[in-house]
Amino acid sequence: MLLKEKVIVVTGAGGGLGEGIAQVCSREGAKVVVADIRGDAAENVSNDLDGESLAVHCDVADDKALDNLVQEALATFGEINGLVNNAGVNFVKPFLDTTSADWDRVISVDLRAVFFLTQKVCQQMLVQTPVGGSIVNISSVHSHAAISGAGPYDAAKWGMIGMSKSMAIELASVNLRVNAISPGLLNTQIWQDVLNAAPDQDECISYWKSNIPIGRPIEPEEIGELAVFLLSDRSAFITGANIFADGGMSSQLVSKEPYESGFIEGN
Ligand SMILES: NC(=O)c1ccc[n+]([C@@H]2O[C@H](COP(=O)([O-])OP(=O)(O)OC[C@H]3O[C@@H](n4cnc5c(N)ncnc54)[C@H](O)[C@@H]3O)[C@@H](O)[C@H]2O)c1
Repeated sequence: MLLKEKVIVVTGAGGGLGEGIAQVCSREGAKVVVADIRGDAAENVSNDLDGESLAVHCDVADDKALDNLVQEALATFGEINGLVNNAGVNFVKPFLDTTSADWDRVISVDLRAVFFLTQKVCQQMLVQTPVGGSIVNISSVHSHAAISGAGPYDAAKWGMIGMSKSMAIELASVNLRVNAISPGLLNTQIWQDVLNAAPDQDECISYWKSNIPIGRPIEPEEIGELAVFLLSDRSAFITGANIFADGGMSSQLVSKEPYESGFIEGN
């Protein structure tokens, strides 16, 4: 087991991707701290895990709640060995209509919270014996390219990468690693909402297949497997990385043509 006896905090773990990450961490032997703004959802996920776990009600946009999360994890398990900053809010609204309140809400959850929770957890990891730990920040293919109307979300997900690299080089000498994962479309509630809103589900699936070379959304546990690798000692030499786990989405310039292309040899 890759995370035997390690204490791993996962934010936004009351559902979606965070739940999948928590499940794989638990299967790999971790003691998992399941943190979510929906306390009852965190409890349900924690109760379903086979290994030791703790549910914590936590709004990551609230500094006091971050302090409480660290304290509760320590009170129960005595140390923290890994953190997955997964909690996030999605956002799409035309740039010209976006308000300062919209900006503050998205940035406070998707970026500011990642900075300060990582700081608090790293301060703890530095006074533990042995010193060390691994941080995994859940960014997005939005750290590679944008969609219209996603300005605050794009700023947060790009910002997360710069921040991770800065932390990684500052903390490398004390055995603290910081990496990011950039998933493409996930099979979470967002995908179900997209499907339910489509006038024709088959057309919707075929459109998305043309945008994802592997041809399907990613399952949360597939990202969980990558997160576990980055949290474990198997990735001891990897820090400051941003790993795209997107079925090839960010490698494709435009959607696949709906016909067979001929050869173009040029001059
Ligand atoms: N769904 C996708 O296609 C996709 C793609 C790339 C990246 N991501 C990123 O993955 C992460 C998880 O996305 P998801 O699809 O599972 O979303 P989701 O909405 O299904 O789940 C998000 C979880 O975070 C919790 N949460 C929201 N605000 C919080 C707060 N302030 N404090 C604590 N918890 C909070 C929610 O209660 C929920 O349990 C996000 O950071 C998202 O940006 C998602």
